[in-house]
Amino acid sequence: MKVIIDSRENIAKLAAKQYIELLAKKPNAVLGHATGSTPLDLYAELVKLCKEGWISYKDVTSFNLDEYVGLDGSHDQSYRYFMNENLFNHIDIDKAKTFVPSGIDTSAAAVAAYDKAIEAAGGIDLQLLGIGENGHIGFNEPDTPFGSLTHMVELTESTRKANSRLFAGGIDEVPTHAVTMGVKTVMNAKSIILMATGPKKAPIMKEVLEGPVTEHVPASVLQLHPSVTIYMDYEAAAQLSK
Ligand code: GLP
Repeated sequence: MKVIIDSRENIAKLAAKQYIELLAKKPNAVLGHATGSTPLDLYAELVKLCKEGWISYKDVTSFNLDEYVGLDGSHDQSYRYFMNENLFNHIDIDKAKTFVPSGIDTSAAAVAAYDKAIEAAGGIDLQLLGIGENGHIGFNEPDTPFGSLTHMVELTESTRKANSRLFAGGIDEVPTHAVTMGVKTVMNAKSIILMATGPKKAPIMKEVLEGPVTEHVPASVLQLHPSVTIYMDYEAAAQLSK
């Protein structure tokens, strides 16, 4: 794993460079996108680069990691809405080529079709990840099997509490379930970026980077991937010993 530690502002710029390089080499790349507050600076940077003509998403296909069950794309806390608002509405991507798991049709067939669609698109070239305070990636909570593909999950109380800050009605409004790419779906990506910022992520980043590879810390699986870049700000890196 390549670990880059810099200011919050700089890591967004450095990560954006990876997108410039990839899209220059492969304009029709398949990108895996993430939600949460962590990638917001990166998305703002990518929007700027696109508006200035440095990158184009014209031929890009996008797959998002996850979606809350019960929220459709018009709900302002759905991840489809988040992606439209923070990235897709401001770049030249073809919306028909942007995929987010459905939070409404959660039938086994619809869920399984997500992995098939990724495969049919040629697999994900670059998957972006944030991290939950308990080590979740996407919504793969602790103890999710490393062999998992896209599936429905019950969210932990700690994740619902952490995410309730964004819901006007507080924790009662936070869905109890989500559909997420599995750990294997993520690990199938050719390259992965994980971003972590702020002091709340410091304890888990120590575990992810310096602890054992264990299903109890889903992001620790990244130690086994051949092409991972971790971008952390100084606060998220504060507890690292090396
Ligand atoms: C949610 C998402 C994750 C994200 C996490 C952290 O639970 N499902 O993909 O990484 O939040 O969010 P934040 O970046 O706001 O800390």
